[in-house]
Amino acid sequence: MNNNIIEVKDKKFAISIPENKILAEVKRVASQINHDFQGQHPIFLAVLNGSFIFAADLLREVDLPCEISFVRLASYEGMGTTGEIREIMGLNVDVTGRPVIVVEDIVDTGLTMAHMLETLKRHNPSSISICTLLLKPGKLQVNLDIRYCCMQIPNDFIVGYGLDYDGFGRNTRDIYTLVEDKQRNMKNIIIFGAPGSGKGTYSDAIVEKYGMNHISTGDTLRNEIKNGTEVGRVAKGLIDKGQLIPDDLMIQILAKTYDSLPQGRGVIFDGFPRTIAQAEALKQMLAERGHDMGIAIDLVVEEDVLMERLLRRAQIEGRADDNEATIKQRFEVYHSKTEPILKWFEKEGMLNVVRWADTPNKEAMIESIFQLIDAKNA
Ligand code: AP5
Ligand code: MG
Repeated sequence: MNNNIIEVKDKKFAISIPENKILAEVKRVASQINHDFQGQHPIFLAVLNGSFIFAADLLREVDLPCEISFVRLASYEGMGTTGEIREIMGLNVDVTGRPVIVVEDIVDTGLTMAHMLETLKRHNPSSISICTLLLKPGKLQVNLDIRYCCMQIPNDFIVGYGLDYDGFGRNTRDIYTLVEDKQRNMKNIIIFGAPGSGKGTYSDAIVEKYGMNHISTGDTLRNEIKNGTEVGRVAKGLIDKGQLIPDDLMIQILAKTYDSLPQGRGVIFDGFPRTIAQAEALKQMLAERGHDMGIAIDLVVEEDVLMERLLRRAQIEGRADDNEATIKQRFEVYHSKTEPILKWFEKEGMLNVVRWADTPNKEAMIESIFQLIDAKNA
């Protein structure tokens, strides 16, 4: 795991987007551009410094007759970082009447890009398109039409592949995310319990406090169903009957999801494992990556409370498996196939139990789960 962490100046960063993923996305966007600008001669304006690597990789995938110019944005002195961009330096091609594609490494607030577009319009290009490697949708403050975007990322601080921290860190092949103190070395958590025990609810609280990753296999499957994928078709019939999805398929989905997450901050597994075979597979998958299982938290809640919660949720969210008959079936499957994992956790020395009956209050439950996590990460 440690080779996935780098130090740039005084800070630690964990790998979050590997090179192969970046290059695949750059290729995808380049082929969109090739398609959309067929028969045209666009001018790429790469905004320095951050976009230099992205621009180089992008341009090598573009097979149109095109030009590139590297520009810098300059604001008047004394305006500070919030200063308005007044000038585009280095625009040494005539863009009049020609399609322009602005190449940026990252769009966050979008203010810089908005000013850039305004200034660029004065040069009368026939069109202006934005092509960004990364977009932080959570930070965007202005309405921008971003025609080409390789990847969207959360509001984290990142370096690598051209992006810097205080001038350093641009020269890596992968992209890395700042490991905040609160996210550092968090142990993985398996949040375990019967349907309705609060796995999703408490996961949300843990994510908010500790910034951990969250994998909910139930949510993943419901997404597949919504998107009408092959996996979704298989999952729908089984979920509606309260049955489990076959282990092989689930294990594959889990590994793929796990590998797509930013590393170095710990993962909450919600709804996985659900069989002993899944538990064994999880242990092996993590061991192959040099990672630990972490801790398991078993949420114990009486069945009548669970039924009441799920029927209430049915009225709010309308989940297809939240009807009395299917819920009963889910309880049965939980007792026969999932509950036996508790013994397995015990054997692994990772079992922790939190009982609703001891603290029948949601906030108090959350607090005791936090205390447990803090103690295990101390
Ligand atoms: P999944 O989506 O995981 O469903 P589940 O295990 O039945 O659990 P729920 O999501 O219903 O409950 P939860 O424990 O998350 O509780 P929540 O926080 O929502 O799986 C669905 C299906 O997908 C499975 O049946 C299976 O077919 C398939 N599947 C998924 N993973 C699989 C795998 N690994 N292998 C094979 N198949 C798999 O809370 C419930 C409600 O209670 C909420 O509305 C909440 O707001 C409310 N609530 C009220 N008071 C509280 C309180 N004090 N604490 C917590 N919640 C409360
Ligand atoms: Mg859930």
